[in-house]
Amino acid sequence: MRTYVITGGTDGIGRGLGLHWLGRGDRVIAIASGAEKGAAFLSEASRLGAADRAHFLRADYRGLRAAMQASRCIDLLGIHFPQRHPGARTRYVLYNPMFTRTAMADSLPTAQRLVSKAAAVLFAQSVAEAIVPVVELVDIPPYAPVSAFRRRTPIPLTGKDFDPDAARRLDAVTAALLAETTA
Ligand SMILES: NC(=O)c1ccc[n+]([C@@H]2O[C@H](COP(=O)([O-])OP(=O)(O)OC[C@H]3O[C@@H](n4cnc5c(N)ncnc54)[C@H](OP(=O)(O)O)[C@@H]3O)[C@@H](O)[C@H]2O)c1
Repeated sequence: MRTYVITGGTDGIGRGLGLHWLGRGDRVIAIASGAEKGAAFLSEASRLGAADRAHFLRADYRGLRAAMQASRCIDLLGIHFPQRHPGARTRYVLYNPMFTRTAMADSLPTAQRLVSKAAAVLFAQSVAEAIVPVVELVDIPPYAPVSAFRRRTPIPLTGKDFDPDAARRLDAVTAALLAETTA
């Protein structure tokens, strides 16, 4: 039995993946900010007969700006990971699912939300479709220590999003911050 920790695991793509892995017999720890969605996730897990393998942790990583920054930081920390841990078995996969029908637009102002929801009906894939390539990548990770994909299309690790100097600087700042908080 594997254990999966899913940040944002109570809705959308994270929830889809969580329920898939619970259905397969694995253990899932879903992290999200809302107790209501957490309870709904646990109740769905129960319905699948996986109550003892499903866990919900409440944590709030608030703010769209913070989320965008975090997403950029995750890319850069992934790029630097092999330098920090040469020879590690861990595989970093930076993954963009592209447009998927989820609750992501729910918090937008009304006009943007309506446009986004309408566009999703026309152009977005379902969660069930979105999770398939993710499950494949987790089951059989790419050989390279770090790789990036848009759906199934590999993306070259070039350009400013994957800049090795920025990655090195972020790694140093992160290590210093962690040393401060654990001192
Ligand atoms: N949907 C798309 O078209 C699309 C496209 C490209 C990339 N992505 C990325 O894929 C990921 C999943 O997106 P999704 O569409 O599945 O989103 P979603 O349906 O809105 O689900 C988001 C999940 O994150 C949790 N969450 C939201 N705000 C949080 C906070 N402040 N602190 C902790 N947890 C929080 C939500 O639960 P709570 O609200 O209860 O906290 C929920 O479990 C996101 O990183 C998104 O940027 C999505």
